[in-house]
Amino acid sequence: MRFMKISSHFVVFLLAAVAGTLEGHAATALTPGELLGKALFFDPSLSTPPGQSCADCHDPKAGWTGSDQDINLHGGVYEGAVATRFGNRKPPTAAYASFSPKFHRDGNGEFVGGNFWDGRATGERLGNPAADQAQGPFLNPLEQNDPSAADVCRKVAASGFAAQLTGSSYPDLFARAFGPGTLDCDNSSDTYDRIALAIAAYEASREVSSFSSKYDAYLRGRAVLTKQEKKGMALFEGKAKCANCHSTRGMSYAGKFPLFTDFTYVNTGVPRNPENPFYQMPAEFNPLGADWVDPGLGGFLAGRVEYAPYAADNKGKQKVPTLRNVDKRPSLAYLKAYMHNGAFKSLKEVVHFYNTRDVLAACEHLSHPEPGINCWPAAEEAANVNRTETGDLKLSDEEEDAIVAFLRTLSDGFQLSGPTAD
Ligand code: HEC
Ligand code: HEC
Repeated sequence: MRFMKISSHFVVFLLAAVAGTLEGHAATALTPGELLGKALFFDPSLSTPPGQSCADCHDPKAGWTGSDQDINLHGGVYEGAVATRFGNRKPPTAAYASFSPKFHRDGNGEFVGGNFWDGRATGERLGNPAADQAQGPFLNPLEQNDPSAADVCRKVAASGFAAQLTGSSYPDLFARAFGPGTLDCDNSSDTYDRIALAIAAYEASREVSSFSSKYDAYLRGRAVLTKQEKKGMALFEGKAKCANCHSTRGMSYAGKFPLFTDFTYVNTGVPRNPENPFYQMPAEFNPLGADWVDPGLGGFLAGRVEYAPYAADNKGKQKVPTLRNVDKRPSLAYLKAYMHNGAFKSLKEVVHFYNTRDVLAACEHLSHPEPGINCWPAAEEAANVNRTETGDLKLSDEEEDAIVAFLRTLSDGFQLSGPTAD
């Protein structure tokens, strides 16, 4: 929908800015910074109480998002390190997040970039939104729940996990990535920055953002798409308008491999997920209870003096997510949740929603509502719903299926000689 051209040099700059160089990205082995980030990402001893790592909500086998079947089928939102404490949104994939530009307002007055569904990890602090983001979960009482950066530093210094995972201790990995003595808990603020930069470097690394899907192999001329996948790709870029937001041109890695997002913000009219556990959270965390409505980008803007005038026009908008790995899962029986609140449970449902949101009746008006069949529930946030590119696409059932088939080509780990990865 929005046109954005960011040169691949900009992405290269971002990658270089987070400890890993582009050469590191291309090499198979991880750089010391990336390796350190990997240990921090998977280390379960860094939460309070211990037991929750980043990977618990960002599992590689589910495309770096949540892999708990029961949660995905229902509320879509993950429990923090403290049992019974839940956040309010579904974990997006942690892969490809490092490619988001710093949060800014572009020449057309559109907000672009940042991490999180609402962009609040702006990149202003560390120069990269994914690094700013990585400072959030450790200290979030609804996630890893640590009391302070100094506490996280001490936990890292005391943990044997890096040695177990990589064969090098944390002090050693810090020394190789940032210089001798840099796991320094007397200056825990600087060390906490290094922790975040290392995690962002790992997220940008070849192991996490690997550009290794069937679609990438096709772009490299090393795989052939089926007739149905090709049809889906044409619809995705044409009649179905998906690429207006999930761009296949414009912003890309190495000028060739698209990120499937333009990093803008849109309210697609997604219904509320009535099973979101946040509605049941105590008033300390959710004073509005069941009346809470996710404000998305508008909520973040409202809290910043310079952006507050734009809050109302951006209420309910969520960041356009990458579609890379959207279908990545260990088996076809394995369920994922989609959209910021996990309201949808299959890609077919998502595509059918885009196709018919404004065509089917409103479920609230029917005596026998069957969501997705004879109606759709109202949008969680009615303001600012995009009706020019989504809601009435006039796609046939076969066309919907073809788009889903194309989305399945975006899962990393495609084996050229093996069975097609899906
Ligand atoms: C309890 C589950 C949970 C844990 C633990 C967790 N996350 Fe997340 N993560 C989420 C949720 C939920 C969001 C979206 C929150 C929002 O948008 O408000 C998110 C967002 C992100 C994003 C933003 C992606 C994007 O495109 O904007 C990244 C990157 C990320 N997490 C990485 C991490 C890292 C690194 C850690 C460990 C330091 C971590 N997460 C720990 C649940 C979790
Ligand atoms: C006008 C912009 C726009 C268009 C056009 C659009 N999308 Fe989206 N898409 C978004 C936004 C924004 C979200 C997140 C919405 C939310 O969570 O509330 C999203 C979410 C998704 C998700 C869920 C991803 C996840 O990780 O949960 C899928 C899948 C998806 N879109 C596929 C498509 C397909 C297929 C099309 C074309 C039929 C399409 N989109 C068209 C903006 C758009």
